[in-house]
Amino acid sequence: VNPMQVQAVEAYELSAKFYHYVLNHTKQGNEAKQYLKDRGMNDHLINQFQIGFAPDDWDILARFLDKRGYAANFLEEFGLLIAKQDGTGYIDRFRNRVIFPIQNFEGQTIAFAGRILGAGQPKYLNSPESDLFTKSRTLYNWNQAKGNIRKTKQVVLFEGYMDVIKATQAGLENGVATMGTALTEEHCALLKRQTSEVIICYDGDEAGQAATAKAIALIEATSMKVLVAMLPKGLDPDDYISQYGASSFLRLVLDESVSATKFKLIYLRRNHILLNEEGRKNYLIEAINLISEVDTSVEREFYLKELSHEFDISLAALKQDCNEIRQSKQKNV
Ligand code: UTP
Ligand code: MN
Ligand code: MN
Ligand code: MN
Ligand code: MN
Repeated sequence: VNPMQVQAVEAYELSAKFYHYVLNHTKQGNEAKQYLKDRGMNDHLINQFQIGFAPDDWDILARFLDKRGYAANFLEEFGLLIAKQDGTGYIDRFRNRVIFPIQNFEGQTIAFAGRILGAGQPKYLNSPESDLFTKSRTLYNWNQAKGNIRKTKQVVLFEGYMDVIKATQAGLENGVATMGTALTEEHCALLKRQTSEVIICYDGDEAGQAATAKAIALIEATSMKVLVAMLPKGLDPDDYISQYGASSFLRLVLDESVSATKFKLIYLRRNHILLNEEGRKNYLIEAINLISEVDTSVEREFYLKELSHEFDISLAALKQDCNEIRQSKQKNV
């Protein structure tokens, strides 16, 4: 183990405690506390996720860590401080932001995400990537969720911090987040060691749906089972819970999630214009092609039947095309 990294973890854990204290026990934390309350977060969750607040101050953390013997250039390297342009010293990276500590797979705090109170850019300011923190190898809440993932034999995949936290409050304790970036092979390899089923619960906007399509391909390549929780357009899991409540959310994720194939068909459909004959034919060809990838004939028939009803085409014709595609694919192997 690299001693620099050990010390950086120490500094992060000390800073997390500091920011958590500021949020909970100082006047400077009041506005942020109210912000979190307004977003439906209670004290128990604030403690469980060790949420904090970096006050509106240029160097309160720099001074705090200096007193404890940490060198400023060292803290800058790991993203807690920023060097001033004119070379006269250092300021805090996180100012006037709600702090979400991020842990590695061993449960050590290795980074922060700082959310602005209200609107503004960037919405979340993150620690920079370093030897300590690599987004492609980190999943938010992994350490707390791990045991529940093994127990429930499922993991629920979210985009963001608030989604995981609000889902936990709703009673879903096997959730982790990719923190807005793409799911990676490293993430999948890690998940596969604990479970064989992933429920993707990304945001109900274009970006979320596109990310879902990409994540499905990666997860299927590891031969884990994939399900998709379909959020209404424009809502993310956090919004959904606020609007419809915990039990409705649990139903949406645990009972109403659709298969990867179903999601792909819905997604395909959203990207096709079906008003004219040409568009409908194109959609059908691609849909049959997609269904031809499904392993069992029962499942293939299930989806083909839906197409048959919807487009008023005989099941026999659809089946024939589907089987021909399968045969030509097998020949090409
Ligand atoms: P979203 O834009 O969906 O934000 O980004 P959100 O999680 O719903 O945030 P709230 O509810 O408005 O607070 C999803 C995730 O992408 C990362 C964060 O991890 C965020 O949770 N992200 C987003 C960033 O890192 N930086 C940003 O500026 C925005
Ligand atoms: Mn999003
Ligand atoms: Mn979101
Ligand atoms: Mn949100
Ligand atoms: Mn939002």
